[in-house]
Amino acid sequence: MVALQPRRDLRIPPAYRDAMEINGSTILVTGASGGLGNAMCRELAERGANLVITARRRTLLEELAADTGAEVLVADLTDRADLRRIADRAASCDVLVANAGVGQDPPLAELTEESIDFSIDVNLRAPIVLAHRFATDHIAAGTPGHIVLIGSLAGMAASPGTRMYNATKFGLRGFALSFCQELEGTVVGCTHVAPGFIRDAGMFANNDVELPQGVRTKVPADVASGVVKAITNGPTEVFVSPPELRVASTIGTVAPALAALVQRKLGVSERTGS
Ligand SMILES: NC(=O)c1ccc[n+]([C@@H]2O[C@H](COP(=O)([O-])OP(=O)(O)OC[C@H]3O[C@@H](n4cnc5c(N)ncnc54)[C@H](OP(=O)(O)O)[C@@H]3O)[C@@H](O)[C@H]2O)c1
Repeated sequence: MVALQPRRDLRIPPAYRDAMEINGSTILVTGASGGLGNAMCRELAERGANLVITARRRTLLEELAADTGAEVLVADLTDRADLRRIADRAASCDVLVANAGVGQDPPLAELTEESIDFSIDVNLRAPIVLAHRFATDHIAAGTPGHIVLIGSLAGMAASPGTRMYNATKFGLRGFALSFCQELEGTVVGCTHVAPGFIRDAGMFANNDVELPQGVRTKVPADVASGVVKAITNGPTEVFVSPPELRVASTIGTVAPALAALVQRKLGVSERTGS
């Protein structure tokens, strides 16, 4: 196994490492059959990327491939052999976008070990395994690359009924913020992208959840722009949400009891995590 220690001979100025070009680069996107994955793939293809798209639903991937010229890789992130196939393919890509995620959190009484494993496998284990393999492969080869981890504001503030989603997205953010520091001075960069509520397509739109009055949303194209910013500028974190939601999430991080009280006052009792 390759150690993640920055190797002096591979040290390059961050300005070079961070300035990844989208045009002509090969970008692997997980969860490409979903609402946000579809939007980000179309934006990246528009900007001249060669795409490798992966998910379980072949038909949706093939429809997207017909429009973008993408290579299709049908795979289930909960299957260890499939996950290795994705990691193997990502080794020769310039950018990894770990976007796939699951949001369904069953009622507490229906939570099973299987559903706990499923959430952890898709939302946390798979992106960590892929990011680690991508980074170590690229560092060993001395090939610049960038990792984009799609998290959520649900990785900063918890809501009632979204326990596994919160658990995995908090975990992913923790991994990302540590990993970004660890990769400093190597040929690989890493960005955590945290969307808030996204309307029109994707898991929040599909769940038809009503938000408290005044809570604003963004659209899938905003998330796609966040991914472009992540790849081209290489910041540690990109937020895709109205500023007030980001402030509320920050309060949720530092004062969770206060955030819970505010949510109760606003009548947030159903799942609103996304
Ligand atoms: N939509 C929002 O408001 C919102 C807000 C914050 C963060 N996010 C995050 O954004 C990312 C994309 O979400 P989305 O809104 O686009 O959700 P979505 O429309 O439900 O798409 C989820 C994607 O994940 C893939 N996926 C799920 N389980 C998988 C498995 N076992 N193996 C392989 N792929 C699997 C799905 O593909 P298949 O079913 O074809 O396998 C699909 O492509 C997620 O990480 C989500 O947490 C979304």
